[in-house]
Amino acid sequence: MLDIQNLTKTYSSAQEHIAVLRGVCMYVSAGESVALTGESGSGKSTLLHLIAGLDEADGGSIRIADTEVTALGDRDRAAIRRDRLGLVFQQFNLIPSLTVADNLAFQSRIAGRHDSRWQNELVERLGLGNLLERYPEQLSGGQQQRVAIGRALAVRPPLLLADEPTGNLDEATADDVTDIALDLVKRTGCAFLMATHSTRLAARLDRKVRLSTGLIS
Ligand SMILES: Nc1ncnc2c1ncn2[C@@H]1O[C@H](COP(=O)(O)OP(=O)(O)OP(=O)(O)O)[C@@H](O)[C@H]1O
Ligand SMILES: [Mg+2]
Repeated sequence: MLDIQNLTKTYSSAQEHIAVLRGVCMYVSAGESVALTGESGSGKSTLLHLIAGLDEADGGSIRIADTEVTALGDRDRAAIRRDRLGLVFQQFNLIPSLTVADNLAFQSRIAGRHDSRWQNELVERLGLGNLLERYPEQLSGGQQQRVAIGRALAVRPPLLLADEPTGNLDEATADDVTDIALDLVKRTGCAFLMATHSTRLAARLDRKVRLSTGLIS
């Protein structure tokens, strides 16, 4: 589902060049969950941003299903992001002016893939039933994160990307949210790549890869 070959990315400023990714190769199959680990600054977020098409690589290729995203321009990458990717970041990025119900449905409506039965199922599984009319600022961190996961899965994406999704949550809540996400990932059969510093959470996923000195080991 996700196939990355020889991916390179260097950040340059007047003073220095930082080669963050120096030839990353990795693969995530449909239905597989993979933890992306590595020290702070090792390039995990950089890699997720490139996969999501939010930034451009210097070299190498990224394929999502049958599409080579590294060959696309900004507009097409945005369309892939909208239609095929679920994204969950540490800052939940919920839309403050929309209720929980509308936040959940936002991406799937824009993508023309809204499915109210599936949304109701997500609401039930994520325990959001009595929060639907609330606004994000009226939710706890764990509740906001569950909404963010629901929104990401509402389009039934073939690939779910998460960057430290539970970094702001206490251990018990982080475990709970991760387990719900894993359960939903299994049910939709999507591929799941999650950057995390936590060995405890990484162990809950099918497999672990590590970024170090710009390479995956
Ligand atoms: N826009 C940018 N411009 C210049 N350098 C950047 C930029 N974004 C990231 N970097 C540098 O690239 C390296 C990798 O950063 P990245 O955020 O990908 O690491 P990370 O593994 O996600 O770290 P963390 O675990 O702390 O989130 C760091 O040295 C960082 O300073
Ligand atoms: Mg990061």
